[in-house]
Amino acid sequence: MPQDSNLIVGIESSDDAGVYKISDDLALIQTVDFFTPIVDDPYMFGQIAAANSFSDIYAMGGIPKTAMNIVCFPSKTMEISILRDVIRGGLDKIREAGVVLAGGHSIDDNELKYGLSVTGFVHPDKILRNNSINNNDLLILTKPIGTGIINTVIKGGFAKEHEIQYVTKTMSTLNKTASDIMKNFPVSACTDITGFGLAGHASEMIMGTGLGITFFECKIPLIEGVEEYASMGFVPGGTYNNKDFRSSIVNFSDNTGTYFSDLVFDPQTSGGLLISIDRHNADMLLNELTDHGIDRASIIGEVTDSHGENIFFK
Ligand code: CO
Ligand code: CO
Repeated sequence: MPQDSNLIVGIESSDDAGVYKISDDLALIQTVDFFTPIVDDPYMFGQIAAANSFSDIYAMGGIPKTAMNIVCFPSKTMEISILRDVIRGGLDKIREAGVVLAGGHSIDDNELKYGLSVTGFVHPDKILRNNSINNNDLLILTKPIGTGIINTVIKGGFAKEHEIQYVTKTMSTLNKTASDIMKNFPVSACTDITGFGLAGHASEMIMGTGLGITFFECKIPLIEGVEEYASMGFVPGGTYNNKDFRSSIVNFSDNTGTYFSDLVFDPQTSGGLLISIDRHNADMLLNELTDHGIDRASIIGEVTDSHGENIFFK
């Protein structure tokens, strides 16, 4: 691996984005993400993919500045108008984020894929890492979980219209407001919940800290209907990989519902921020979030030093 002392967050720490220090008061944050459509509406798919691409910058406490389109398009089998709608959706989110589109690249491919590479700024002393948690912190999650399950239901053709609308809205919501608000509080660590699910990303938060997390099961915000869908078997394949990967440190209580583990390992698309904050300030931060429309935000757990690097659900 090439070395450079100005690379302050690199590939080793499985953090949300890479950070490169330019000067004592400026660092560059870089991230890239793209994927295949998860909803049928190309305009909404563009919005979701863009919102998802910005999320890692927000999770690091940074401000996204420039973006580049990444496009894979089956030009021989798909109407070009579909691509236009995808790009238009992405552009709307780019504009909402206060970002400029600096360019991009497209290739011919068998399957449509879209996303962004994003560059942002952060003060080198204000970077929010994922594993800088402190003992006794409380954890706030800003979006409900279950997008992987609902997307599986959508793919199967069984989702109700209001469920499609709700999950589309939550996935296309930028983590910008949540990030802007948390920067005014003594937040110790932050990450965004994406492919590894809540339990998977929480595992990354405790790595190397000697600390653990206890989650309060009944406080975890869920998208309406996901428990029932999980019990019917609408569980994406990624859930099982996530469980296999982290099962040794994730512990459920005897009272845990049968399908609950499917929810906390459910791979999220454009999920919320998981914020670790000094417990005396947690209520104030939560109130500020809910006052600004982040209405499903909830205090869902606490950092503890009593069981080593383990995660408990109780
Ligand atoms: Co992330
Ligand atoms: Co990422």
